[in-house]
Amino acid sequence: MKRSNLQIRGFSKLSKAAKITWLTEQHLSDPARGQELLASYNHADEAVQKRHDEFIENTVANYFLPLGVAPNFLINNQVYTVPMAIEESSVVAAAAKSAQFWMDRGGFHSTVISSTKIGHIHFTFTGDAAALNRLVVRIQPELFAATDSITANMRARGGGILRIDLKDRRAAMDDYFQLEVRFETRDSMGANFINSCLEEMAKVLRLEAATDAGTASGDLEVVMCILSNYTPECIVRSEVRCSLEDLDDGSDLDVYEFARKFQRAVRIAEVEPYRATTHNKGIMNGIDAVVLATGNDFRAVEAACHTYASRDGQYRSLTHCSVADGEFRFWIEIPLSLGTVGGLTKLHPMVQLALEMLGNPGAHELMGIVAASGLAQNFAALRALTTTGIQKGHMKMHLLNILNQLEATDAEKAQLTSFFADKVPHHADVVHAFCALRGIPVPAAEGVRS
Ligand code: MEV
Repeated sequence: MKRSNLQIRGFSKLSKAAKITWLTEQHLSDPARGQELLASYNHADEAVQKRHDEFIENTVANYFLPLGVAPNFLINNQVYTVPMAIEESSVVAAAAKSAQFWMDRGGFHSTVISSTKIGHIHFTFTGDAAALNRLVVRIQPELFAATDSITANMRARGGGILRIDLKDRRAAMDDYFQLEVRFETRDSMGANFINSCLEEMAKVLRLEAATDAGTASGDLEVVMCILSNYTPECIVRSEVRCSLEDLDDGSDLDVYEFARKFQRAVRIAEVEPYRATTHNKGIMNGIDAVVLATGNDFRAVEAACHTYASRDGQYRSLTHCSVADGEFRFWIEIPLSLGTVGGLTKLHPMVQLALEMLGNPGAHELMGIVAASGLAQNFAALRALTTTGIQKGHMKMHLLNILNQLEATDAEKAQLTSFFADKVPHHADVVHAFCALRGIPVPAAEGVRS
C-alpha cells in the first residue's frame, strides 16, 4: 500500500475515474482489484448510474443492501406487501411472521393523530422583549407574504404555514428567542420547503427589527434557520388487538402466561432505559427498513423517535401493551415525518418500485404502514424473547451468513441447513459441522468441541 500522500486538494473536482484511481492507488494494496470491485458495483444502465452518482458528492460506486418484502400486512383492512431494505438477517422474516399472525386477527389499525411540522428561526435579541413581541404580532402578514412564492404550490395542495409564534427562551440561554413556525407539508417530508420559508422570514425579521421604533435599540442577530427533526406534532399510532384466547398460534403456548409475560417485557422497557434502548432498536429495525426502501430519511426518523422516547426526561419504550377484560392490546405511538413526493421518490428507481408496490400511498398512509412495521417487528422480538429466546430464530437466519463466510457450496449449504433445522446454530457449531462435512481440520481459532 502506498499511503504516500493521503491529503488531496480539489478532490471533488476530479472526474469519477480520477477519484477512483487516486483512492485505490493511495489506499489499497491491490489497486487494480479495488478498481475492478468498484466498477462491478456500477449499474449496467449508464443513465441510472449517473443518477446515483449525482445523489451525493464524490461517488465512487454503489453500496448494496438487500431489498426484501414482508407480505400479508393487513393494515386498516388493506393488504400490503411491505418493502424493506436492511442487512440484518432476521428482520424481514420476523416482520413477515408477525404480519401473518396478525392477518388472522384483524390486522393492524393505524391512525395519523397529527401531521404538523415545526421549524425555528433561532435568534438573539438584547432589547425590550415586549417590543419584540409587538413587532412579531405586527409583521405577521409580512412574514407570510415573504414566503408567498415558495408556499404557492403547497397551499394549492392544502398545506403551507399554519402559524408563527415568538418563543422567549432566555431562561435557557442569554438573549435567546425563537420564531417557531408550524407547517403542514401534505405528502412531502418538507425539509427544503420549511428551511426555505424560514430563511425568507428571517430576512423580514432582521429588516423590520432594525427599523421598528420599539426594537431598533436592541441588537437582533439571527443565528440560524432550520426545521426541527423532532416532530411531536406529527404522530402516528398503530395497534393490534385480540382476545387472549386468539393469541393461540397452534403451538403449545399457554396464552394467559404468554400475555402476562409479554406485557411484563413491555413494562420493563417502559421503566428501564437499558432495556428500552434495545427494545426500541428492534422497533427501528422494522421502521428504518421501510423508511429506507421508500426513499425517506431514516436518520431524521431515528432522531425524532429517540427524542420522543425520552420526552418525559427518561428514555422509554415506544410501544405499550395492556391485558384487560380478556383482551390483549399492543400499540406504538411515534413521530414520523415522511414524504411520498419530492426527495428521492421520483429519482431512485427502486424507491419508485417500492412505493408502487405499496399502491403509491400518500404520506399519511405510509406513516401507518411504517408504524405497523415497527410494531410487527417488536411483537416478533418480544414473542421470541419471552418464549423460545431470541437466538433460535436469529441464528437460524444468520446460518447462511456463516456458511457464506466459510464459502460453502450450495450443496453444503442445503445439507447444513437441514442439519441445523431443529437446533440453535452457534457460530462454532456451524464451523465444526462444516469442517466435518468437508473432512477438513477445524481451524485452531475455533477451539476443540466435545
Ligand atoms: C436485534 O436487532 C433486535 C432485538 O435485540 C430487539 C429486542 O431485544 O427487542 C432482538
